[in-house]
Amino acid sequence: MIVKFKETAVFYTDTGKGSCVVLLHGFLENSTMWNAVVEEVSKRNRVVCIDLLGHGNTGCIGYIHSMEEMAMTVKAVLKELKIRKATFVGHSMGGYVALAFAEKYPKSIKGICLMNSTSQADSEERNKLRLRAKEMAKKNYETLVKMSIANLFAENMRLVLSKEIEKVRVEALKIPVRGYIAATEGMRLRENKEIVLQAIDKRLMIAGKQDPILNYKIVEDEAKRTNTPLIELPNGHMSHIEAKNELLKVLTEFVKS
Ligand code: MLT
Repeated sequence: MIVKFKETAVFYTDTGKGSCVVLLHGFLENSTMWNAVVEEVSKRNRVVCIDLLGHGNTGCIGYIHSMEEMAMTVKAVLKELKIRKATFVGHSMGGYVALAFAEKYPKSIKGICLMNSTSQADSEERNKLRLRAKEMAKKNYETLVKMSIANLFAENMRLVLSKEIEKVRVEALKIPVRGYIAATEGMRLRENKEIVLQAIDKRLMIAGKQDPILNYKIVEDEAKRTNTPLIELPNGHMSHIEAKNELLKVLTEFVKS
């Protein structure tokens, strides 16, 4: 289904009945990453998945897609569906968007689960990497995407999961260069949202022990500092693929709680 935001079509799915759960995908992903979660969670809940700006079937609106603008597209979908309050699960960039949403619309938040995500802004190093990636995207997009996708998985799993990695790559390569650059800029410019996270009553962090993007120790410190319950999984950045069954269990519990 589609709703218009700033003259651009925003794609979403709406499955099941009950208290609403919103699932937000990460960078270079789209709402299909949640298929298994939707199947499980929609048995007891209404589940809304949204293709964020420049991803999946949703168009681009500018040269920078800030996390706040992405949050506004989420609000547009919820408004269309007359949903006042929801529990959010955000994978990586989806978590940044969920926090931007919580800051803008605190009354619409029931809870947030940050899955392989963080409330922190980029480190200086990550910021520089993003600037480099932006330049490379203009010159050699396919190589960049192929490389970046493999790097999301735990190193020791890359061979075993080669088929799954290929599927993620195929989806990622559907994203236009413009969408890649706009989301990269949006993530690079995002600010620290630790206070926003702390203000949410029902909150959870899920982290991969071998996440090549988000260092486990740093996420663990963040969880301690913000007093956020933390679930440790044995995998990399892609919990929904690398630790599918454990993740389903954790998310089902979180939504029920
Ligand atoms: C993602 O998976 O959404 C990205 O890796 C997040 C990021 O680059 O910070």
